Amino acid sequence: MGMSNQVAPVGIIGGTGLTTLSGLEITGERVVDTPWGEPSSVLVDGMLGDQPVVFLSRHGNPHRIPPHQVNYRANLHALQQAGVRTVVGVNAVGGIHADMGPAHIVIPDQIIDYTWGRASTFFEGELEETTHIDFTFPYSELARALLIDAARTVGCPFSDFGVYGATQGPRLETAAEVRRLERDGCDLVGMTGMPEAALAAELKMNYVCLALVVNRAAGKSDHIITMTEIEVAIDQGMSGVKRILEIAIGG
Ligand code: HPA
Repeated sequence: MGMSNQVAPVGIIGGTGLTTLSGLEITGERVVDTPWGEPSSVLVDGMLGDQPVVFLSRHGNPHRIPPHQVNYRANLHALQQAGVRTVVGVNAVGGIHADMGPAHIVIPDQIIDYTWGRASTFFEGELEETTHIDFTFPYSELARALLIDAARTVGCPFSDFGVYGATQGPRLETAAEVRRLERDGCDLVGMTGMPEAALAAELKMNYVCLALVVNRAAGKSDHIITMTEIEVAIDQGMSGVKRILEIAIGG
């Protein structure tokens, strides 16, 4: 059943570790441009089960655009132009909460924005409409429920709520910064959750985050963070992420 009837068609923004989506039966590829500039990658059209999907690689393919230089506006606008009404943002994150170790999957319910200096709104220039979107619940509850059901079916370790702290990067955090994020109530930390979620809301698209923990956040383990441990966690956890997408979207 998946997302087919309720929220089709679905866009997937793949993050670190998900530059392509195996299991996607590719039907085409298009280079698109937007009034906000070029998106990070071509749009890949395909089918996941019987559900049409549009896939976009947030950091480009190959991976080259750092989190603070992603053109989030162009990415969301391109997906909207492609007819997408629901976006699943896949994000690699650090785990702050003790339960959220490497390869754990989280479908967060809230977000705190610590990013700065990013182009974070479509509402610029001379405007006629209201520019203050409601953002009480940044993620679509319907889409969250579908991902949560799929995660249960897959049987991988996951959390069905959590607060995503979006940091500027591209460096990782200090231990004290992570302690502050924790005091603020953040369970996970990543660099790409915002402004993506807010821009989707401005475009009145449903948006949901599927986060894969790839390391314990700074100071939360007995070692510093290495790219090697991140790669290992991606290898361990990304298959679960893909299966969740296949079940939630493809049905
Ligand atoms: N912090 C911020 N972003 C991240 C991390 C982290 O520890 N891991 C993956 N993305």
